[in-house]
Order: sequence, then structure tokens, then C-alpha cells
Amino acid sequence: MPIPKLFEGRLRLPVICAPMFLVSSPRLVISACKHGVIGTFPALNTRPQELLDDWLTQISRELAEFAAAHPGLPVAPFGVNQVVHPSNSRLEADQALVRKHRVPFVITSQGDPTRIVQDVHSWGGVVFHDVVKTDHARKAIKAGVDGIIVVAAGAGGHAGTINPFALVREIRELWAGPLVLAGALNDGHGIRAAECFGADMVYMGTRFIATEEAEVDADYKRMLVESTLKDLIYTDAFTGVNCNYLAPSLTRAGIDIESFIKKGTVDLDLGSVNAWRSIWSAGQGVGGIKSILPVAALVEQLVAEYRIAAGRPDFLSRQALS
Ligand SMILES: Cc1cc2nc3c(=O)[nH]c(=O)nc-3n(C[C@H](O)[C@H](O)[C@H](O)COP(=O)(O)O)c2cc1C
Repeated sequence: MPIPKLFEGRLRLPVICAPMFLVSSPRLVISACKHGVIGTFPALNTRPQELLDDWLTQISRELAEFAAAHPGLPVAPFGVNQVVHPSNSRLEADQALVRKHRVPFVITSQGDPTRIVQDVHSWGGVVFHDVVKTDHARKAIKAGVDGIIVVAAGAGGHAGTINPFALVREIRELWAGPLVLAGALNDGHGIRAAECFGADMVYMGTRFIATEEAEVDADYKRMLVESTLKDLIYTDAFTGVNCNYLAPSLTRAGIDIESFIKKGTVDLDLGSVNAWRSIWSAGQGVGGIKSILPVAALVEQLVAEYRIAAGRPDFLSRQALS
């Protein structure tokens, strides 16, 4: 299974802590990388835009100092998510800072990554592109990306709608390079399962919100621990794009759930309910989140689960038929 040279020997697990709007911050990114998981953040999380320079300086410096002080430890590279859709008016300014800091790993989403790929390759960086459909993967491969992130049904944020088995196998027919699977993956069993049907790595978003290092409202973390699948509402009412939201966060924001489900719209002035800031998203794996952990403990737990899943005898060996 291929992974880029940049990642070799630097990961404890084939896991990327996914970029999350208004969630990912230097604290979470740095902690993930120090514990051998790739930490990432959306460039759009820095406001004002110039703050991106400070974040990149801080993350690069702290990780370099940590790696120098711990030569035997795998310290993962970090990544920045760039929305390449024409509506992103910050793209040029953000990319200039990504270039200045020679960011090792860039994740592009929502558009044509060609120009970013050429730019990032000029300093030896690696670009993965986010896709929810096979056609998007075809275009990204043509653009020269180094990896494909397959966002399947059940993911947190603006999720795809396609079953992960179907989507990974279809994209595998056209792409033999690094493939990352996203959507409702929370534990080491999921990581191993994703590898078994063709992924090289997994993307985990929601699980990392329930960590000590995630700088979000404490109620959001508590809600993740208390919620299960029945608490999710999938709607495009807040951003125009379908997304899984935690129903208790809608209630907390003053929305009457029953009437919302009946009408499909909210009675409140939408300006007062800010999706992402006061209405919170979670992937369908939310029921598997039982505790708020430091990233270090979460990574240990993932490693232990992954070992159990990887060592489980398969059907043929159990039946002694092989
Ligand atoms: C609160 C939240 C914000 C997100 N923001 C972004 C974003 O800004 N850019 C992006 O590419 N993906 C975003 N995502 C999607 C994640 O990068 C990732 O695909 C997803 O979380 C994986 O599914 P999981 O949450 O079930 O692990 C977001 C997800 C969540 C939960």
C-alpha cells in the first residue's frame, strides 16, 4: 500500500486528523503531529488572513524543536487545507504564505487543484485532493495530485452520499496511488477495515473534536460523548449544502426540532444561528465517542484497537480451510 515518502517513518498510524472549520487550531495540529498522526487545518480558520503567517511559523517551529529533542520519535508532517473553489477570495494570499513556509502537505477541496499542485511540487510538497465522486477523482488525477481523499457517506462536515465500499473500489480502478478514506471512522477497527478494502490511510475529523486539545465550546465536546446516530440531522438548511448536525446543538440555539423537521426550515432569523459556530456538526460515527481524551491517550487507544483488529484471525484461518 503506497504512502508518500514524506510520511514514511513519521507516523504511528495511517491517520490524518482532518481539517475542520472553526475547530482545527495550532494546539490540535501540533499535538497530533507530536503523537505521530498528521495534523491539518483549513487556511480559512485564520482570521484575519495575516494570522496564517503566525500559525505556520508557530507550527513549523514547535514541531522542528520537538523533533530535534526527540530524535527517536515519529513526528508527523502537518498540512493545510486550501479551498480551491473560485469563491475563495483568499486563495492567492493564503497560497503565498503556504509557499513562504514551504508547507509539506496541502489538502485541496472543492475545485480544480492544478495550480496548487504545480506550486506545492516546486518545493517538494505533497498535495492530496478531497473527492465525493469518482468523476472528481478522475479530474484530480489529471491535475497531478499525489493522493486522493475519498469522503464517503456519514462524514462530519459537508459529507458525501456514497457508500465507502462502493466509492473506494470504484476509485481504485483508476488510482493506484495513496488513497485516504473519510467518514465515520473513529477507532482502530475502522482503520484496519479501511485498509482491507483498499484505503492506505484514514481521515478522522469528529473523533478529534472530543479531545482536550480541540479548542471548541466544552458543550460541543460533551454533546459528542452523549450523542448517538439518532441525534443527527442531515440538512442543507443552514449552508445550502447537506451536512450532519447534532440536533441538541439546534435545540441549544433555540430551534424547535419538531417544527424544523416538519417544515424543513427554521422559524428563527438565520442570521442569529451561525452554522459551525453555534450549530455543530458530527459524523455518523458519533455514537462510538465515549470520552474526551488527550490526543496522546486517543492515539494509544487507536494503536491498541488497530493491533487487535489486525491480529484477528480471518474466516479461512478460523475454519482451517485455507
Ligand atoms: C466541524 C467540522 C468542520 C469541517 N470543516 C471542514 C473544512 O473546513 N474543510 C474540509 O475539507 N473538510 C471539513 N470537514 C470535513 C473533515 O475534514 C472530514 O472530511 C470529516 O470530518 C471526516 O468525517 P468524520 O467527522 O466522520 O471523521 C469538517 C468536518 C467537521 C466535523
